[in-house]
Amino acid sequence: MNGPETITITPIGVVHCSLQTPEEAPRYYTISDVPGTLEIFPPYLEAMDGIEAGQTLVVLFWLHKARRDQLKVYPRGDRSRGLRGVFATRSPIRPNPIALSEFKVLKVQGNLIEVTGVDVINGTPIVDIKSLGERKDSTGK
Ligand SMILES: C[S@@+](CC[C@H](N)C(=O)[O-])C[C@H]1O[C@@H](n2cnc3c(N)ncnc32)[C@H](O)[C@@H]1O
Repeated sequence: MNGPETITITPIGVVHCSLQTPEEAPRYYTISDVPGTLEIFPPYLEAMDGIEAGQTLVVLFWLHKARRDQLKVYPRGDRSRGLRGVFATRSPIRPNPIALSEFKVLKVQGNLIEVTGVDVINGTPIVDIKSLGERKDSTGK
């Protein structure tokens, strides 16, 4: 193997929401209208500068309750579709259980960002937050 064998990631915050177990969480943010609050830890407060209501944020999470010991899954638990490698799915089960969600910002107050569209459970650590990237237009420019 090339490169470091381990990488240490320090969470920059945590999500608060009504979802207590993976079973009750929506499968994906596009079908979620669950509200939640992103609590950003004090050392990272300055990094929130520029985040505003109405914006869409890309949020990376560490799915702390996910299994990490399986490389193949039945997508959406549907056995009729056969097993697929986890890298070809959005399954929470993966060697490094990093999730990517897009949330609409409702309000920013101090170190708290109120959002909607949450698909991760209460207490899930936040690894990073990014603004939505620019997309190519339909002409491919
Ligand atoms: C399929 S993942 C999608 C997450 C993200 N939008 C993505 O695509 O990477 C969402 C599912 O992960 C599970 N989940 C949510 N939070 C979790 C956590 N902290 N630990 C383990 N599983 C979690 C729930 O079952 C939820 O339905």
